[in-house]
Amino acid sequence: MAEKELGDIPGPAGDRVLGNLQEFSTDPLRFLTACAREYGDIVRISPRNVLLAGPEHVERMLVDRNADFVKQGPETRRAGRRQSLPLSTMSSDGEDWKAKRRRIQPAFGRELSATAAAAMRGQGERMLEQWRPGQVRDLQQDVSVVTLRLVTALMFGEEYTDSEIAEVAGMVVPIMELSASPVVLPEWLPTRRKLQIRRNLRGVERTLARVAASGRAADPKAAPVLHALLHGTPAPTPAEVNDELATLLMAGYETTNDAVVWASVLLARNPEAAERVYHESEKALAKNATGMALLGELPYTDAVLRESLRLYSPVWMTSRDARVDVTFSDYVIPAGTTVTVSQWVNHRDPRYWKQAGEFRPERWLGKEPTEVPRGSYFPFGLGPRTCFGASLAGVEAVSLLASVWSRFRLRLETPESVRPRPALALQPLNARFKVEAW
Ligand code: HEM
Repeated sequence: MAEKELGDIPGPAGDRVLGNLQEFSTDPLRFLTACAREYGDIVRISPRNVLLAGPEHVERMLVDRNADFVKQGPETRRAGRRQSLPLSTMSSDGEDWKAKRRRIQPAFGRELSATAAAAMRGQGERMLEQWRPGQVRDLQQDVSVVTLRLVTALMFGEEYTDSEIAEVAGMVVPIMELSASPVVLPEWLPTRRKLQIRRNLRGVERTLARVAASGRAADPKAAPVLHALLHGTPAPTPAEVNDELATLLMAGYETTNDAVVWASVLLARNPEAAERVYHESEKALAKNATGMALLGELPYTDAVLRESLRLYSPVWMTSRDARVDVTFSDYVIPAGTTVTVSQWVNHRDPRYWKQAGEFRPERWLGKEPTEVPRGSYFPFGLGPRTCFGASLAGVEAVSLLASVWSRFRLRLETPESVRPRPALALQPLNARFKVEAW
């Protein structure tokens, strides 16, 4: 078939001046889903932005042709310099990215996950000590303290006080909104609060500089990630250490929070699944299983997490800029085009998932996941740039879910008002829970 151009790709024309900006900004989840369902596997959503909804296209972009795309196209780089944003592993490209990833990734091995699993039980218990039946809790808030405490302890080997944790959390959230999330937003998306973000970034940098200068960095057991970074090759500049730590903190924090809260929303809405988690986790905890052994005892809770990551993937879209011309189907996508893929769209595609909109954790205990194409489920991305915090995040989330649901049943205060807010991560809005004894 003859090759076709960018302009030939079908897609909504939108407003004469604004194109589809308004629709995207108002409800991006609905907009992207409608584009895919109406126009097919490859959709032109703006003059320079293409959505790839076919799973084979997603795989081609993220795995096979990964090297032909960059996270930081010229526009993003210019914007980044203006905002003095970090250039960490997550936001670097090419050989620079490869070297940075090689330097830090080894720290995220089995040992780190095992340490996390062991530490998480204690952190979870500490959180639950404050809970009483009858209380209404903001789970996002409670979980954020736990995940932030864990991630800072793992990375920097330092136990922060509650007020320090709250301070870091307060700084991190607005920064997340701009740059350091796994998501790279298309250039045409308007960004806000840049001044505040810059200020907060400086605050995080000061905290991190203090940590990096502390003696703990010399001890790989006390501060595995910081140690790997400082002793890795090429030796990082102080600014790089800051950027890398700030990014890891942000990447590992809100996403994991959202995963735990969404799973709890789904359990609250599905009492039978909640009972299964309760029985499974109570039994596992009663055996005094800890660390990775505990996780081995929690296959259903793990399935709940996977299903929750399918329906409410914290990373709901990812974009890259084409570095060279790349062909998808018979369309040539020219260098410089922004290409977007969306977990929200593909994880809910009824062509590949049975009862796509329904919460069915048991599908993960059967064959179904092995039958769907790779590009239909990618909560942690795919290919060379896949999330190296995935196993750590899984350990954290499953342990915490088991701790919470083995002790209490959570009921949503206002079930009908819970909805996803697609910020840089997919946040659950209005997820306030009433705590009940089983
Ligand atoms: C449920 C929790 C998490 C989710 C859903 C998640 C999701 C993702 C996704 C989708 C990507 C790939 C983005 C792309 O292709 O552009 C990614 C990359 C990344 N994630 Fe995660 N992540 C989670 C937790 C973590 C944790 C705990 C850490 C570390 C502390 C982490 C560190 C990173 C880093 C450094 C990258 C960039 C890798 C690279 O560009 O080479 N993530 N994450």
